[in-house]
Amino acid sequence: MSEDNKINTPVEQNKSARPRETKLFGRVHNNDNIAFLREKIPNDFVDLTLTSPPIYDENLYTNTGGEGEFGWKTFDQYLAHLSTLLEELFRVTKPGGMLVVETMSGPNEHKKQIKKLFPIPARITLSALEKQWEFWDEVIIVGMPNNIVSIPKHSPPTAQNKMIHKQLLVFRKPGKKNQCRKAKGHYLNSIWTITPNKREMENYADYSYGIFSEHLIKRVLSLWSCQKDIVLDPFAGTGQVIRIGKKFRRRVFGIEIDPKLEKYWDDINKPIQKVNEPKADQKPDKDTT
Ligand SMILES: C[S@@+](CC[C@H](N)C(=O)[O-])C[C@H]1O[C@@H](n2cnc3c(N)ncnc32)[C@H](O)[C@@H]1O
Repeated sequence: MSEDNKINTPVEQNKSARPRETKLFGRVHNNDNIAFLREKIPNDFVDLTLTSPPIYDENLYTNTGGEGEFGWKTFDQYLAHLSTLLEELFRVTKPGGMLVVETMSGPNEHKKQIKKLFPIPARITLSALEKQWEFWDEVIIVGMPNNIVSIPKHSPPTAQNKMIHKQLLVFRKPGKKNQCRKAKGHYLNSIWTITPNKREMENYADYSYGIFSEHLIKRVLSLWSCQKDIVLDPFAGTGQVIRIGKKFRRRVFGIEIDPKLEKYWDDINKPIQKVNEPKADQKPDKDTT
């Protein structure tokens, strides 16, 4: 068990002390996301959260030895975790900061061929509104040519149609944020076709969830953050957001509960590197997607 994982119960929150940046940034921390945020992250600290929570699926989360993979035996327990996390994320986000959640509806009892859906995007949106987030934008993501990017590999045919899209739900914490020069993007509409990067898919072929593609992360970073900004992924998985965020000069950190995924973080969990230190002459990101 890593050092970080020892903190698994919320303790007295230290909401004003700033964490040591060299220990925080450029890494995936092996812990439960709510416990870690409560323990380590002060109020009004993060500029952008980009994350993709697990998709609640009865097969994955309630049929694993009766315990549920992450302790969520029911859809309500899953929603309760997300709701508490949305509240914590609101606390740690700066006024005017953003939260981008990639998600999709989950299959309900598909094992028994009952084709119903868990309305995950709708429930996350309602929960975020309750926690005072503003609903800011919405994007449909389609992976081409065969929907493998960003769509979990285990995605079964759901409802009446084979589901090949995901949603990006974009929220904003009310308040004013400093402006930065943005990249000139090509975001003409709210449907993004994300072309799979073959190398990425090969590198993480044995990871059972969908990974974020670099193209998607680049778009989100350049639309809703600036260089030097503090970026968080609380469901970090293979650490893609951290990997790509570093490349684009964000001060980025992730939280992931599964210690088995540590093998994917070798290239990022090195001692803090210069790449994470922002340059004085900031230029907007180049968007090549
Ligand atoms: C859909 S995957 C994220 C994949 C990630 N976007 C990537 O590109 O690799 C969701 C991840 O959330 C992790 N997770 C589930 N519950 C968690 C919790 N309470 N705290 C931190 N991570 C958690 C799972 O282990 C899983 O790796």
